[in-house]
Amino acid sequence: MSQPLKLGVNIDHVATLRQARGTLYPDPLEAAKICAKAGAVSITVHLREDRRHIQDSDVYCLSEKCPLPINLEMANSEEIVQIALKVKPAEICLVPEKRQELTTEGGLDVVRNFQALEKTVRRLQDNGSVVSLFVDADEKTLQACAKTGAKVVELHTGSFCDATDPILAEQLLKKLIDGAECARSLGLQVNAGHGINIGNIARILTIPHLDTLNIGHSIIARAVFVGLENAVAEMMRAMADG
Ligand code: PXP
Repeated sequence: MSQPLKLGVNIDHVATLRQARGTLYPDPLEAAKICAKAGAVSITVHLREDRRHIQDSDVYCLSEKCPLPINLEMANSEEIVQIALKVKPAEICLVPEKRQELTTEGGLDVVRNFQALEKTVRRLQDNGSVVSLFVDADEKTLQACAKTGAKVVELHTGSFCDATDPILAEQLLKKLIDGAECARSLGLQVNAGHGINIGNIARILTIPHLDTLNIGHSIIARAVFVGLENAVAEMMRAMADG
Protein backbone atom coordinates (compact mmCIF):
# COMPACT_ATOMS: atom_id res chain seq x y z
CA MET A 1 0.00 0.00 0.00
CA SER A 2 1.29 3.47 -0.79
CA GLN A 3 2.10 5.86 2.07
CA PRO A 4 -0.48 8.55 2.91
CA LEU A 5 0.35 11.93 1.45
CA LYS A 6 2.09 14.17 3.99
CA LEU A 7 1.61 17.86 4.70
CA GLY A 8 4.47 20.21 5.47
CA VAL A 9 3.35 23.66 6.57
CA ASN A 10 5.31 26.73 5.54
CA ILE A 11 5.03 29.24 8.39
CA ASP A 12 6.91 32.15 6.75
CA HIS A 13 3.83 34.34 6.84
CA VAL A 14 3.46 34.02 10.58
CA ALA A 15 6.79 35.85 10.65
CA THR A 16 5.55 38.26 7.93
CA LEU A 17 2.81 39.38 10.30
CA ARG A 18 5.30 39.85 13.13
CA GLN A 19 7.80 41.75 10.96
CA ALA A 20 5.05 44.05 9.67
CA ARG A 21 4.89 45.72 13.09
CA GLY A 22 8.25 44.81 14.60
CA THR A 23 6.56 43.00 17.46
CA LEU A 24 7.54 39.76 19.20
CA TYR A 25 4.26 38.10 18.16
CA PRO A 26 2.97 36.00 16.47
CA ASP A 27 5.66 33.48 17.33
CA PRO A 28 6.62 30.98 14.57
CA LEU A 29 7.47 28.37 17.22
CA GLU A 30 3.96 28.56 18.64
CA ALA A 31 2.63 28.19 15.10
CA ALA A 32 4.83 25.14 14.53
CA LYS A 33 3.50 23.50 17.69
CA ILE A 34 -0.10 24.04 16.55
CA CYS A 35 0.69 22.61 13.08
CA ALA A 36 2.19 19.54 14.78
CA LYS A 37 -0.96 19.10 16.89
CA ALA A 38 -3.11 19.32 13.75
CA GLY A 39 -1.15 16.54 12.01
CA ALA A 40 1.46 18.24 9.81
CA VAL A 41 4.67 16.22 9.39
CA SER A 42 7.17 19.02 8.90
CA ILE A 43 7.63 22.77 9.17
CA THR A 44 9.09 24.78 6.32
CA VAL A 45 10.76 28.14 6.78
CA HIS A 46 12.48 30.17 4.08
CA LEU A 47 15.46 32.11 5.37
CA ARG A 48 15.64 34.66 2.59
CA GLU A 49 18.74 36.72 1.94
CA ASP A 50 16.62 39.87 2.47
CA ARG A 51 15.26 38.45 5.79
CA ARG A 52 11.80 39.80 4.96
CA HIS A 53 10.01 37.30 7.19
CA ILE A 54 11.94 34.48 8.89
CA GLN A 55 15.02 35.70 10.83
CA ASP A 56 18.19 33.82 11.75
CA SER A 57 16.96 33.68 15.37
CA ASP A 58 13.77 31.88 14.20
CA VAL A 59 15.83 29.21 12.47
CA TYR A 60 18.01 28.65 15.54
CA CYS A 61 15.02 28.62 17.89
CA LEU A 62 12.98 26.24 15.71
CA SER A 63 15.94 23.93 15.22
CA GLU A 64 16.14 23.53 19.00
CA LYS A 65 12.49 23.52 20.00
CA CYS A 66 10.26 22.66 17.03
CA PRO A 67 8.43 19.36 17.63
CA LEU A 68 8.57 18.56 13.88
CA PRO A 69 11.48 18.20 11.46
CA ILE A 70 12.47 21.48 9.82
CA ASN A 71 12.60 21.89 6.07
CA LEU A 72 14.82 24.95 5.51
CA GLU A 73 14.19 26.69 2.21
CA MET A 74 17.17 28.66 1.02
CA ALA A 75 19.05 30.09 -1.93
CA ASN A 76 22.40 28.64 -2.88
CA SER A 77 24.28 31.52 -1.25
CA GLU A 78 27.37 30.96 0.88
CA GLU A 79 26.08 33.07 3.78
CA ILE A 80 22.93 30.95 4.09
CA VAL A 81 24.78 27.70 3.41
CA GLN A 82 26.97 28.45 6.43
CA ILE A 83 23.87 28.83 8.62
CA ALA A 84 22.40 25.59 7.24
CA LEU A 85 25.65 23.76 7.97
CA LYS A 86 25.48 24.98 11.57
CA VAL A 87 21.79 24.22 12.08
CA LYS A 88 21.69 20.87 10.22
CA PRO A 89 17.95 20.88 9.49
CA ALA A 90 16.41 17.50 8.63
CA GLU A 91 15.63 18.76 5.13
CA ILE A 92 16.84 21.60 2.98
CA CYS A 93 15.06 22.81 -0.14
CA LEU A 94 17.25 24.85 -2.46
CA VAL A 95 15.27 27.53 -4.29
CA PRO A 96 16.08 30.39 -6.65
CA GLU A 97 15.76 33.82 -5.09
CA LYS A 98 15.32 37.31 -6.49
CA ARG A 99 15.23 40.44 -4.33
CA GLN A 100 12.12 42.05 -5.81
CA GLU A 101 9.96 38.93 -6.09
CA LEU A 102 6.74 38.61 -4.06
CA THR A 103 7.46 34.92 -3.57
CA THR A 104 9.70 32.26 -5.16
CA GLU A 105 9.18 32.64 -8.91
CA GLY A 106 10.05 29.66 -11.11
CA GLY A 107 12.22 26.70 -10.27
CA LEU A 108 16.00 26.36 -10.12
CA ASP A 109 17.85 26.28 -13.42
CA VAL A 110 19.72 23.11 -12.48
CA VAL A 111 21.20 22.60 -15.95
CA ARG A 112 22.81 26.04 -16.08
CA ASN A 113 23.90 26.07 -12.42
CA PHE A 114 24.81 22.40 -12.24
CA GLN A 115 28.31 22.66 -10.81
CA ALA A 116 27.42 25.10 -8.04
CA LEU A 117 24.32 23.15 -7.07
CA GLU A 118 26.06 19.77 -7.13
CA LYS A 119 28.71 21.12 -4.77
CA THR A 120 26.16 22.56 -2.35
CA VAL A 121 23.99 19.43 -2.42
CA ARG A 122 27.07 17.39 -1.52
CA ARG A 123 28.14 19.71 1.32
CA LEU A 124 24.67 19.79 2.85
CA GLN A 125 24.02 16.05 2.47
CA ASP A 126 27.46 15.18 3.85
CA ASN A 127 26.46 17.32 6.84
CA GLY A 128 23.37 15.17 7.45
CA SER A 129 20.50 17.07 5.79
CA VAL A 130 18.31 15.59 3.07
CA VAL A 131 18.40 18.02 0.15
CA SER A 132 15.58 18.73 -2.24
CA LEU A 133 15.65 20.93 -5.33
CA PHE A 134 12.69 23.17 -6.16
CA VAL A 135 12.20 22.83 -9.89
CA ASP A 136 9.78 23.10 -12.77
CA ALA A 137 8.57 19.76 -14.07
CA ASP A 138 10.96 19.60 -16.99
CA GLU A 139 12.68 16.38 -18.05
CA LYS A 140 16.18 17.81 -18.63
CA THR A 141 16.01 19.67 -15.32
CA LEU A 142 14.93 16.53 -13.47
CA GLN A 143 17.74 14.51 -15.04
CA ALA A 144 20.20 17.16 -13.88
CA CYS A 145 18.65 17.04 -10.38
CA ALA A 146 19.32 13.31 -10.15
CA LYS A 147 22.92 13.88 -11.27
CA THR A 148 23.54 16.37 -8.44
CA GLY A 149 23.02 13.54 -5.96
CA ALA A 150 19.90 15.15 -4.44
CA LYS A 151 17.39 12.58 -3.27
CA VAL A 152 14.28 14.74 -3.50
CA VAL A 153 12.69 17.21 -5.89
CA GLU A 154 9.91 19.62 -5.07
CA LEU A 155 7.85 20.27 -8.19
CA HIS A 156 6.85 23.92 -8.57
CA THR A 157 3.06 23.91 -8.79
CA GLY A 158 2.74 27.72 -8.89
CA SER A 159 2.13 28.15 -12.63
CA PHE A 160 -0.61 25.52 -12.59
CA CYS A 161 -2.21 26.94 -9.43
CA ASP A 162 -2.18 30.50 -10.79
CA ALA A 163 -3.43 29.63 -14.30
CA THR A 164 -6.88 31.13 -14.96
CA ASP A 165 -7.24 29.72 -18.48
CA PRO A 166 -8.60 26.15 -18.12
CA ILE A 167 -6.79 24.88 -21.24
CA LEU A 168 -3.46 26.22 -20.04
CA ALA A 169 -4.15 24.81 -16.56
CA GLU A 170 -4.72 21.34 -18.06
CA GLN A 171 -1.46 21.58 -20.01
CA LEU A 172 0.44 22.64 -16.91
CA LEU A 173 -1.11 19.86 -14.84
CA LYS A 174 -0.16 17.31 -17.52
CA LYS A 175 3.41 18.66 -17.35
CA LEU A 176 3.43 18.13 -13.57
CA ILE A 177 2.08 14.58 -13.98
CA ASP A 178 4.74 13.75 -16.57
CA GLY A 179 7.39 15.40 -14.41
CA ALA A 180 6.40 13.33 -11.40
CA GLU A 181 6.62 10.13 -13.48
CA CYS A 182 10.03 11.19 -14.77
CA ALA A 183 11.34 12.09 -11.30
CA ARG A 184 10.14 8.80 -9.90
CA SER A 185 11.80 6.86 -12.74
CA LEU A 186 15.05 8.63 -11.82
CA GLY A 187 14.69 7.41 -8.23
CA LEU A 188 13.81 10.82 -6.80
CA GLN A 189 11.28 11.43 -4.03
CA VAL A 190 8.56 13.74 -5.34
CA ASN A 191 7.30 16.64 -3.24
CA ALA A 192 5.27 19.56 -4.55
CA GLY A 193 4.46 23.06 -3.49
CA HIS A 194 3.54 26.63 -4.26
CA GLY A 195 0.12 28.18 -4.64
CA ILE A 196 -1.76 25.12 -3.37
CA ASN A 197 -5.10 25.88 -1.71
CA ILE A 198 -8.41 24.24 -0.85
CA GLY A 199 -9.78 25.10 -4.31
CA ASN A 200 -7.04 23.42 -6.35
CA ILE A 201 -5.96 20.59 -4.04
CA ALA A 202 -8.18 17.98 -5.75
CA ARG A 203 -6.41 18.59 -9.09
CA ILE A 204 -2.99 18.60 -7.40
CA LEU A 205 -3.79 15.15 -6.01
CA THR A 206 -3.97 13.77 -9.57
CA ILE A 207 -0.17 14.14 -9.71
CA PRO A 208 1.27 10.66 -9.08
CA HIS A 209 3.99 9.58 -6.62
CA LEU A 210 3.59 12.55 -4.27
CA ASP A 211 5.26 12.17 -0.90
CA THR A 212 4.81 15.61 0.72
CA LEU A 213 2.97 18.81 -0.15
CA ASN A 214 4.49 22.00 1.26
CA ILE A 215 1.76 24.59 1.71
CA GLY A 216 2.01 28.00 3.30
CA HIS A 217 0.14 31.10 2.24
CA SER A 218 -3.36 29.63 1.85
CA ILE A 219 -3.20 27.90 5.24
CA ILE A 220 -1.95 30.96 7.11
CA ALA A 221 -4.56 33.12 5.32
CA ARG A 222 -7.33 30.70 6.27
CA ALA A 223 -6.05 30.65 9.85
CA VAL A 224 -7.02 34.32 10.18
CA PHE A 225 -10.67 33.21 10.08
CA VAL A 226 -10.74 29.72 11.59
CA GLY A 227 -7.51 29.47 13.58
CA LEU A 228 -4.33 27.70 12.57
CA GLU A 229 -5.21 24.28 13.94
CA ASN A 230 -8.51 24.24 12.01
CA ALA A 231 -6.85 25.57 8.85
CA VAL A 232 -4.24 22.79 8.90
CA ALA A 233 -6.91 20.19 9.72
CA GLU A 234 -9.10 21.39 6.82
CA MET A 235 -6.21 20.97 4.40
CA MET A 236 -5.39 17.53 5.79
CA ARG A 237 -9.03 16.47 5.33
CA ALA A 238 -9.04 17.79 1.77
CA MET A 239 -5.86 15.82 1.07
CA ALA A 240 -7.36 12.65 2.55
CA ASP A 241 -10.65 13.09 0.62
CA GLY A 242 -8.76 13.44 -2.66
N1 PXP B 1 7.61 25.38 -1.62
C1 PXP B 1 8.54 26.31 -1.95
C2 PXP B 1 9.85 25.83 -2.47
C3 PXP B 1 8.29 27.69 -1.78
O1 PXP B 1 9.22 28.59 -2.12
C4 PXP B 1 7.06 28.08 -1.21
C5 PXP B 1 6.81 29.52 -0.93
O2 PXP B 1 7.71 29.99 0.03
C6 PXP B 1 6.13 27.07 -0.89
C7 PXP B 1 6.42 25.74 -1.12
C8 PXP B 1 4.80 27.41 -0.30
O3 PXP B 1 4.06 28.13 -1.24
P1 PXP B 1 2.71 28.79 -0.78
O4 PXP B 1 3.03 29.78 0.28
O5 PXP B 1 2.20 29.43 -2.05
O6 PXP B 1 1.82 27.68 -0.30
